[in-house]
Amino acid sequence: MKKQQIGFELSIYENPEELPQKEQKLLQAAEDARENAYAPYSSFKVGAAILLENGETVIGNNQENASYPSGLCAERVAVFQAGARYPGVPIVAIAISATSKDYVVDEPAAPCGNCRQSIIEYEQRQNKPIALLLRGEIGAVYKCTSIGDILPLAFSSSFLTDS
Ligand code: THU
Repeated sequence: MKKQQIGFELSIYENPEELPQKEQKLLQAAEDARENAYAPYSSFKVGAAILLENGETVIGNNQENASYPSGLCAERVAVFQAGARYPGVPIVAIAISATSKDYVVDEPAAPCGNCRQSIIEYEQRQNKPIALLLRGEIGAVYKCTSIGDILPLAFSSSFLTDS
């Protein structure tokens, strides 16, 4: 038996103004996007903003449903929209921002497991890392250089064939 550590480097920006302009703008787009979330059941609004390699920005927000599992997270609304509108254009980064009606979200909002799996499929297809910028409503910003950092040992299409 042998043991192996799997880790990654997380960049923590206590002040979002330390981020490069482009990333500050993307985070702002995620904050703006969360306002149009439809979250009457959880009161937890999430916004996601995607920066594409062609310079376009695509946004998403969570869309809930009275039949709870039928709703969709902000990140998947955004990546699927990017895939639909700009097929084949690589994703450079995704900013995620969350707010609640009930309390102040003061820690970075991380994508759920389903969203990680959906985002990593895009990273594998484009063969270039997708960076993440995570923030709550206030407080520090976490930056990961690749979605793969927060989904180690991910399942992928390679498992579906023998090659
Ligand atoms: N939610 C997201 O939009 N993204 C995540 O990564 C986690 C959760 C949404 C789903 C639901 O509408 C609400 O937040 C509460 O779970």
